[in-house]
Amino acid sequence: MTVLPLVIAPDPILKKKSKAVDVVDDVVRAFMDDMLETMYDSEGIGLAANQVGDLRRILVMDVAQREDDSAAKEPIAMANPAITWSSEELNVYQEGCLSIPDQYADVERPAEVKVTYLDRDGKEQHVHATGILATCVQHEIDHLNGVLFTDHISALKRSIIMKKSSKIKKARAADDS
Ligand code: NI
Repeated sequence: MTVLPLVIAPDPILKKKSKAVDVVDDVVRAFMDDMLETMYDSEGIGLAANQVGDLRRILVMDVAQREDDSAAKEPIAMANPAITWSSEELNVYQEGCLSIPDQYADVERPAEVKVTYLDRDGKEQHVHATGILATCVQHEIDHLNGVLFTDHISALKRSIIMKKSSKIKKARAADDS
């Protein structure tokens, strides 16, 4: 497995809508594994394919260690995820994003969602997500539609966070050169 380079905001690919996966084959499975490796390497709980420069509708998540470091890993990979139901009840979580390093903001979203997707074996699955998983899956599906968590907050907060991300991006690029 390979740790892939992360796309840092601002970047046009983070604003693009991703395209459906035709079939979950070995190539897609290997990519899902690389995405999980990349997510764990950065201590994230979710990652969408466009965050590693790929415009397929693929995301990975693992929220198991979010509350308990010693919990076993519970990797989830989804192709073509679609929200089929959202609760009226809302929840606020402080969200961050591997593409917007070290920046956080409260985001309000439906507290529960039902999601249909293709799993690692290409089998259709349905999940009723609650708690942090519900927030995480909505955040990642947003990525597949070119939407960032900063698109859910005030323009003022968004501009402050994007300026900071831009600075971090430049600093990292300078480090790499
Ligand atoms: Ni994100």
